[in-house]
Amino acid sequence: MQRTLLITGGAGFIGSHVVRLFVNKYPDYRIVNLDALTYAGNLENLADVKDKPNYTFEKGDITDEAFVDQLFTSYQFDGVIHLAAESHVDRSIMDPLAFIRTNVLGTAVLLNACRKYWQDSMEGKLFYHVSTDEVYGTLGAEGFFTEETPYDPRSPYSASKASSDHLVMAYHHTYHLPVIISNCSNNYGSHHFPEKLIPLAIRNIRQNKPVPVYGKGENVRDWLWVEDHARAIDTIFHKGRTGETYNIGGFNEWKNIDLINLLCMIMDKKLGRAPGTSAQLITFVKDRAGHDLRYAIDATKLNKELGWQPSLQFEEGLEKTVDWYLANEEWLQHVTSGAYQQYYEEQYQKR
Ligand SMILES: NC(=O)c1ccc[n+]([C@@H]2O[C@H](COP(=O)([O-])OP(=O)(O)OC[C@H]3O[C@@H](n4cnc5c(N)ncnc54)[C@H](O)[C@@H]3O)[C@@H](O)[C@H]2O)c1
Repeated sequence: MQRTLLITGGAGFIGSHVVRLFVNKYPDYRIVNLDALTYAGNLENLADVKDKPNYTFEKGDITDEAFVDQLFTSYQFDGVIHLAAESHVDRSIMDPLAFIRTNVLGTAVLLNACRKYWQDSMEGKLFYHVSTDEVYGTLGAEGFFTEETPYDPRSPYSASKASSDHLVMAYHHTYHLPVIISNCSNNYGSHHFPEKLIPLAIRNIRQNKPVPVYGKGENVRDWLWVEDHARAIDTIFHKGRTGETYNIGGFNEWKNIDLINLLCMIMDKKLGRAPGTSAQLITFVKDRAGHDLRYAIDATKLNKELGWQPSLQFEEGLEKTVDWYLANEEWLQHVTSGAYQQYYEEQYQKR
């Protein structure tokens, strides 16, 4: 094997797309997926690559220093792509400490392991940290987040991600650890846990249940197809400059209510319902505490320096996403029924 890479959080939404891309595109890389399989981790996301010779799964917690050390000793990693995190803002409002533990402490444990195991030679090594545009705070009606925008996180989730970004840069400046950070906008696509806006709406529309929309649906997000994010990570991992931050975005801003209306139109078409039927399910609910008004990414640096750009128009990506959810009822059912959790417990008792 040419390189051995550790990908953390590979059983989650974005992580599973990154693992799939790397395992298929780089048969001479050994890809080790470390994931604790929290409620958000699902090995069914990787059913199509699980038997590939260059893929290994390790169940474990990134905050477990002894376990992470043992993994670094066994595999002698050349690089880390770090995605494992608690990722849902609403959950961070209910239980901030879980976010501090995984997102801050977990990142520090990984950085420390890299520092220790790479101290003799940092040549060819890279710690790639996958982060979010939410670290920049919120925008008014105008402007974009650039790599120079000062951090201003406003939820426990974004504050924990901002803290981890600062730790990554601190290890770079203090210990010369080769690092790169990317900050990405909201992702959508297949294998997305149905607590997030788009998969939740698809599921509820399908089941004729109310589709909750916070406040008046005025919040604006910049949406990127998850496979384009995975491609951007691949590009930055191989061609990015160490010590740099790259913003990743879709140049694709949507008000939540406009997005949900578009989704309702697509669902009416796919389900053979009369136009306007699904939109009747839209239900405005009490706004999220501290809800950021607008996020919008300026991804010019990534485009100019490394030639990356999104491959799909939003309407096309959304249709693909709806098609995937309608064709994968079983996946959705397992995720929501908790049946897959039971599967893991049975599976891992045997090992
Ligand atoms: N979803 C987005 O729109 C988005 C946008 C920008 C950045 N990000 C970042 O991308 C990364 C992945 O996001 P996602 O949406 O795929 O998240 P996700 O919640 O779907 O997946 C997270 C994965 O991490 C694993 N995990 C959680 N705690 C762990 C621990 N302590 N040890 C090991 N594994 C653990 C989970 O089991 C899960 O498989 C996160 O770092 C997130 O901050 C997400």
